[in-house]
Amino acid sequence: MEDRSVKILPTMLVTILLFLTSMFSSTRARAVIDPLPSSSSTKSIIKQESNLVTYIIFLKKPEDMVSAEREELDSWYQSFLPAVTTSSSNQQRLVHSYHNVVTGFAAKLTEKEAKAMEMKEGLVSAHPQKVFRVKTTHTPSFLGLQQNLGFWNHSNYGKGVIIGVLDSGITPSHPSFSDEGMPPPPAKWKGKCELNGTLCNNKLIGARNFYSAGKPPVDDNGHGTHTASTAAGSRVQGASFYDQLNGTAVGIASSAHLAIYQVCDGFGSCEESNILAGMDTAVEDGADVLSLSLGGGSLPFYEDSIAIGAFGAIQKGIFVSCAAGNEGPYKESLSNEAPWILTVGASTVDRSIRATVLLGNKASYDGQSFYQPTNFSSTLLPLIYAGANGSDTAAFCDPGSSKDVDVKGKVVLCESGGFSESVDKGQEVKYAGGAAMIIMNDELSGNITTADFHVLPASDVTYADGLSIKAYIKSTSSPMATILFKGTVFGVPYAPQLAYFSSRGPSLESPGILKPDIIGPGVDILAAWPYAVDNHRNTKSTFNMISGTSMATPHLSGIAALLKSSHPHWSPAAIKSAIMTTANLTNLGGTPITDDSFGPVDVFAIGSGHVNPTKADDPGFVYDIQPDDYIPYLCGLGYNNTEVGIIVQRPVTCSNSSSIPEAQLNYPSFSIKLGSTPQTYTRTVTNVGPFKSSYIAEIIAPQGVDVKVTPNAIPFGGGDPKATYSVTFTRTANVNLPFSQGYLNWVSADHVVRNPIAVTFE
Ligand SMILES: *[C@@H]1O[C@H](CO)[C@@H](O)[C@H](O)[C@H]1NC(C)=O
Ligand SMILES: *[C@@H]1O[C@H](CO)[C@@H](O)[C@H](O)[C@H]1NC(C)=O
Ligand SMILES: *[C@@H]1O[C@H](CO)[C@@H](O)[C@H](O)[C@H]1NC(C)=O
Ligand SMILES: *[C@@H]1O[C@H](CO)[C@@H](O)[C@H](O)[C@H]1NC(C)=O
Ligand SMILES: *[C@@H]1O[C@H](CO)[C@@H](O)[C@H](O)[C@H]1NC(C)=O
Ligand SMILES: *[C@@H]1O[C@H](CO)[C@@H](O)[C@H](O)[C@H]1NC(C)=O
Ligand SMILES: *[C@@H]1O[C@H](CO)[C@@H](O)[C@H](O)[C@H]1NC(C)=O
Ligand SMILES: *[C@@H]1O[C@H](CO)[C@@H](O)[C@H](O)[C@H]1NC(C)=O
Ligand SMILES: *[C@@H]1O[C@H](CO)[C@@H](O)[C@H](O)[C@H]1NC(C)=O
Repeated sequence: MEDRSVKILPTMLVTILLFLTSMFSSTRARAVIDPLPSSSSTKSIIKQESNLVTYIIFLKKPEDMVSAEREELDSWYQSFLPAVTTSSSNQQRLVHSYHNVVTGFAAKLTEKEAKAMEMKEGLVSAHPQKVFRVKTTHTPSFLGLQQNLGFWNHSNYGKGVIIGVLDSGITPSHPSFSDEGMPPPPAKWKGKCELNGTLCNNKLIGARNFYSAGKPPVDDNGHGTHTASTAAGSRVQGASFYDQLNGTAVGIASSAHLAIYQVCDGFGSCEESNILAGMDTAVEDGADVLSLSLGGGSLPFYEDSIAIGAFGAIQKGIFVSCAAGNEGPYKESLSNEAPWILTVGASTVDRSIRATVLLGNKASYDGQSFYQPTNFSSTLLPLIYAGANGSDTAAFCDPGSSKDVDVKGKVVLCESGGFSESVDKGQEVKYAGGAAMIIMNDELSGNITTADFHVLPASDVTYADGLSIKAYIKSTSSPMATILFKGTVFGVPYAPQLAYFSSRGPSLESPGILKPDIIGPGVDILAAWPYAVDNHRNTKSTFNMISGTSMATPHLSGIAALLKSSHPHWSPAAIKSAIMTTANLTNLGGTPITDDSFGPVDVFAIGSGHVNPTKADDPGFVYDIQPDDYIPYLCGLGYNNTEVGIIVQRPVTCSNSSSIPEAQLNYPSFSIKLGSTPQTYTRTVTNVGPFKSSYIAEIIAPQGVDVKVTPNAIPFGGGDPKATYSVTFTRTANVNLPFSQGYLNWVSADHVVRNPIAVTFE
């Protein structure tokens, strides 16, 4: 149980993605998540000086250049750039040249120049780049990873695997990136270190800056440091955070190497041209897993550089895990929907840093606060609502508002939102002489409470609890309250819960693929940070706790690295399948996973469920997909030859005979749009379990749908590790539901391979 106290890991929060709309409307959201940008904002174009804009140019190599060297390609790229007076200004026009995941380059152009370029032979497409945003570890023990035991030990903690993190850079001196006990990188590693002198080591084997060429990729934001340490941070013994969470801080694949590609600025903006450059380079460098806690909403895959870069990566056997987005709880709010990407949603962990509000009427409400004073008395004090005199601004306890009510010596109830973050509200209350503060969530942030680094005794309570406290204040002439600090509590039975902000499906771009794929720890994740957020102390081991699908993503990247280490020959699709078909549907208390309001969750919210790494190591069988198998799928999506060619980077001729419906892709889940005509799909599975094993189909049919599986038994052991089955969906009743869900479970003596089914009625 030693690891229990070691919760330090991976929790950071990514904000890079951001907050456009919610920035000021919800304080709490600001402190906690980093939402993806709304889809309209993602279309925004970065204006350079004058009217130059960065364009991404995709080219098709002429026959004689198919095996061209890098130099030859580069000079061909140059030939596309507009003729300008000096070659030096031409140099400045070129932003990046791509050689691996795509043929093409990024350049600063005027609209007119871009149009003119379209006339040139070899040009496939030219589009102004989009800007994506960053999105933000939890404890390995919660995930069932135990030191010296089981899967963690057996996978050697990811030894020999290289995780490429595309983010806001790194804090190289942080103890989480110490290389004590780390072997040198594998011989295939070709990457570079753009950090000063000897800052790279056997843990941090590479660091490049694509955001600001020539500058070291040092993290000013925190997001990149947090995500990297979550995926593969080294063990930091004796890490302590505000005297809570004492123990060892450690990343998921703690023996894996890290390669850092800075593609985002200090504010979490990530330009498409830089992301593509990072992916292009990581593939060439020899990374095994790419982790991208960023995204830009639903996009056609041929216009989405992350999807295009990821396709180049999986062709080389590189696994790509990406954030689902922080735009929940709204439907159809996903980023990174391509089926060759693992799309990761966020959930809570079983830890709470408890600050319980006790009222004069003896009612008590469990909230959270990282600041846990030991000298705060449990004697009841007068309680006042900060908005008592009707001022909305005062209710938010925004800076400067405290003059509105007399809070001296009182416990003050403040609303989250307004113009300030929770800690600033506390500062205001403290300044005005308040004794303590209760922050109540807004309706949207609902039931997820946050442990903040407060400057006074405080507690963040849920919206529902906040309403109860308000009602109590109204009910009596002398309301009283205090806060009881109970420290860190583990084993919260209703964890994991889906975070309200985690983006939901269905997928807009490809509704026939069920997304998100998986959920993992993404709320209040503690991981490395560039500087001390706890200004009461001065320590070298600086950590911060943040939330977001940005934080969930590197957990899954780390788990993919462990699987890569224990199963070096598994393809990216096989690793994905193993993670998905073994996921948990129940929480620690053994009841179905809920959202953070204790409401039911559907497959468009949690995908296959919550990751269970130990089971993923031994899935029984997997649904494998070769890169070329995506071509008929892409044709079937209705993309034309050019569009499919941009993704797969070679000439493609789509025909009806070479197209398949989306649901026919060999995916470990089903998303069907069903009318009155029955639909049949096939799946091919590959045994990775015991040589002799037999599986029986167990069907939990969606309401109103008949599901028939043929054959309904799969015996392995005859020498062929592959087997094919078909499944027919037939509508049996007119159900008055937008959609209905179920499961196809393949059950053997020692394995259950679970495949979620979503049926939308048309
Ligand atoms: C997943 O489920 C298993 C039981 O099947 C349980 O032991 C484990 O704690 C669960 N993990 C999480 C993170 O809920
Ligand atoms: C841990 O792994 C090592 C080698 O990978 C193995 O020799 C040892 O038996 C494992 N320990 C346990 C408890 O499984
Ligand atoms: C790198 O070294 C140069 C010259 O010694 C120094 O000016 C710069 O601040 C250093 N940068 C970092 C990130 O350490
Ligand atoms: C963590 O360690 C500090 C200093 O050693 C100690 O004061 C504190 O009580 C510990 N906290 C917990 C939760 O164990
Ligand atoms: C409790 O301790 C803190 C930090 O040492 C100090 O600032 C504060 O005044 C103390 N509060 C009380 C009520 O003694
Ligand atoms: C209410 O707030 C206003 C300023 O908005 C202030 O002038 C007034 O004194 C406050 N009333 C009470 C009862 O505190
Ligand atoms: C939070 O959970 C409670 C049940 O404990 C529920 O009644 C409430 O609706 C939930 N949502 C919000 C937004 O508070
Ligand atoms: C494919 O679609 C694009 C629009 O995305 C269009 O510009 C192009 O002409 C089409 N190409 C073919 C071969 O139909
Ligand atoms: C496929 O068949 C449909 C209808 O028969 C036709 O309209 C369409 O053009 C065909 N597509 C291709 C790529 O051949």
